[in-house]
Amino acid sequence: MSLRSIKQRFDIIGDNPVLDRALEIAMQVASTDLSVLVTGESGVGKEVVPQIIHIKSPRKHNQYIAVNCGAIPEGTIDSELFGHEKGSFTGAFETRMGYFEVADGGTLFLDEVAELPLSTQVRLLRVIQSGEFIKVGSSKVQKTDVRVIAATNINLIRAIGLGKFREDLYYRLNTVPITIPPLRERRGDIHLLFKKFALDFADKYNMPAIRLTPDAVALLEGFRWPGNVRQLKSIAEQISVIEHNRLIGHEILEKYLPQDTPSRLPVRTEGHGADYLSDRDIIFKVLYQLRQEVEELKQRVSRESARSASRLSSSKELSNSIEETAVVDYEPDNDEVESDPKDDVETTLSLQKVNEDLIRRALEKHNGKRRPASIELGISERTLYRKIKELNLNL
Ligand SMILES: Nc1ncnc2c1ncn2[C@@H]1O[C@H](COP(=O)(O)OP(=O)(O)OP(=O)(O)O)[C@@H](O)[C@H]1O
Ligand SMILES: [Mg+2]
Repeated sequence: MSLRSIKQRFDIIGDNPVLDRALEIAMQVASTDLSVLVTGESGVGKEVVPQIIHIKSPRKHNQYIAVNCGAIPEGTIDSELFGHEKGSFTGAFETRMGYFEVADGGTLFLDEVAELPLSTQVRLLRVIQSGEFIKVGSSKVQKTDVRVIAATNINLIRAIGLGKFREDLYYRLNTVPITIPPLRERRGDIHLLFKKFALDFADKYNMPAIRLTPDAVALLEGFRWPGNVRQLKSIAEQISVIEHNRLIGHEILEKYLPQDTPSRLPVRTEGHGADYLSDRDIIFKVLYQLRQEVEELKQRVSRESARSASRLSSSKELSNSIEETAVVDYEPDNDEVESDPKDDVETTLSLQKVNEDLIRRALEKHNGKRRPASIELGISERTLYRKIKELNLNL
């Protein structure tokens, strides 16, 4: 299935390269069981990503369950996700299966994952790592095979810094990060989306579609769209229903754009303040963290292989060495991508530049203080110290 047919099937409008890349990554990782974390501001269109992954995966004939973690009360979330035993709490009249059991063999989409209480995050980490879970009120460990896709519009690095989100769970969920860009970073899509919504609402309300004059298009494209595609859609609907004249000019459109909010100010395109991390920075940061993880994994694997080799040569039991190697938290399937050595060098160089920029920016923001900078970067203070030395940064 091509990108174009996926867009058609899921009614996705737009031809922005960053959005296309995000959708392509979703299609590429669909056939694996890797956890995916979809991030992006509110209203950018995250919810379609897990659907694409499920439909393109070998799990497509099994259950796809979407759970809005923010909408389930804290007291019942464990029971919803993992099930409960009869009599385990007041009102538990029967034993009930949770989503992890129902979705066995399928996909579970955990939307607004940052809303999960810390105690539930512990259970979630266990089930993602080992496939094991325990129903509320039970002591029996059960097994399940569920692919987890999570989404959030919250900055999880910040949530970790505030102690609201577990760092280990973040790394586990974030095996494949997919970020949907905000609408203001894909201006070319704004009018396309508006025209599509105008047609949809014309159909829905059985009236001719609204059209925009050129100056109205310019206003539409210059607006900051803090609510992203959801906000654009809602404004297209309001105008479609309320305005008699189907040709919408600048003055009319202006009435529908929220007044007196900072979002009406022109979009800042350069000179970010020290306390401002753009989405591009966040993507780089995620790349940087991914790179760190890969490096650490490589080191662990080579250390373990060296240890295994020396053990074998000292003619210990083969089974011993297999056991030891199995302790390494390493998934060989994920590493089977063939790579061109030239690409590797280029990636290393550009990542090095990204590392430098990010570290500099984080340190500048925190007046050279390493601790807050390391929290911002999502790495330990020790690693930051090592990186500063390694990159020979004159700070
Ligand atoms: N590229 C697109 N083409 C057509 N419709 C879109 C597109 N992107 C988003 N939408 C529509 O915009 C609305 C908001 O999208 P969605 O619900 O996926 O947002 P979200 O990223 O999950 O936001 P939140 O974080 O607030 O939950 C939906 O009605 C969706 O269908
Ligand atoms: Mg959503």
